[in-house]
Amino acid sequence: MAAVFTRLRASALAHKSLFAGQARLASTRPSAAGSAATNLNGSGPVYSVMAGAGLGLGAFYYAYFNGFLPEHSVAKGRLGLSPLAKDVSVVFVLGGPGAGKGTQCARIVEEFGFVHLSAGDLLRAERQRAGSPYGELINNYIKEGQIVPMEITIALLHQAMKESGSKRFLIDGFPRALDQAQCFEDEVCKSQFTLYFDCPDEEMLRRLLKRGESSGRVDDNIESIKKRFVTFHETSYPVVEYYSKMNKVKTVSCLNPVDKVYEQTRSHFLHL
Ligand code: C5P
Ligand code: MG
Repeated sequence: MAAVFTRLRASALAHKSLFAGQARLASTRPSAAGSAATNLNGSGPVYSVMAGAGLGLGAFYYAYFNGFLPEHSVAKGRLGLSPLAKDVSVVFVLGGPGAGKGTQCARIVEEFGFVHLSAGDLLRAERQRAGSPYGELINNYIKEGQIVPMEITIALLHQAMKESGSKRFLIDGFPRALDQAQCFEDEVCKSQFTLYFDCPDEEMLRRLLKRGESSGRVDDNIESIKKRFVTFHETSYPVVEYYSKMNKVKTVSCLNPVDKVYEQTRSHFLHL
């Protein structure tokens, strides 16, 4: 994890110096483009060089998009994450706290063989990991019902995806904000669709208070729950709206008993 941040800083610095370099070039060599154009007039060798460069570029893109290049030779995104296999697919699972995402995911895993990754579970595991530099930070965000900086969450998800070796994932409790959605899709993998568990606040409150009697979670108490609801409505629900506009949301109502909810849930996986 620390490596992600080192890479983040390094890539920010690299970008900075790259831009500075371009600015310098632009200001100190205004005639460079002009002289290249001059060389083009009736110059055979220049065409050969251009054709060679074109072929080289074509070969690079072919190798890149077919996964032939070793990881270190492929340009990485802002977070510096190594690429996953091209045929990895992801379904996002969203819903307010206590909507029943985890319960339904477990059943999808049983029937359809996905790997279930809960962003909240991964964050809690990282919080507990001996030597993690983010333990206290994660704990504070969770207690306050706030969203942990996405660099941490996305790096944890990416690592878990790599380690699992699977190609089909249910990613539960993520993306919790629009920037997480965009960053994940740009740098890790596109989503197939979003499964949204729709549940009224009163019902979620009832379930969370019940769960709090035995869960031992720092955020299953009334103060944290209220904050989690605010975060859900203000920051996470816009993700559902964003994907709805793209016709990529499948909604399941959570007010029925678990088996009935699952009937509706599984119907969205039958024709994948
Ligand atoms: O999904 P779950 O209820 O387990 O999430 C618990 C908490 O973990 C959230 O309230 C939030 O503080 C944190 N979280 C996050 N970003 C995510 C998922 C969870 O910050 N994508
Ligand atoms: Mg959960």
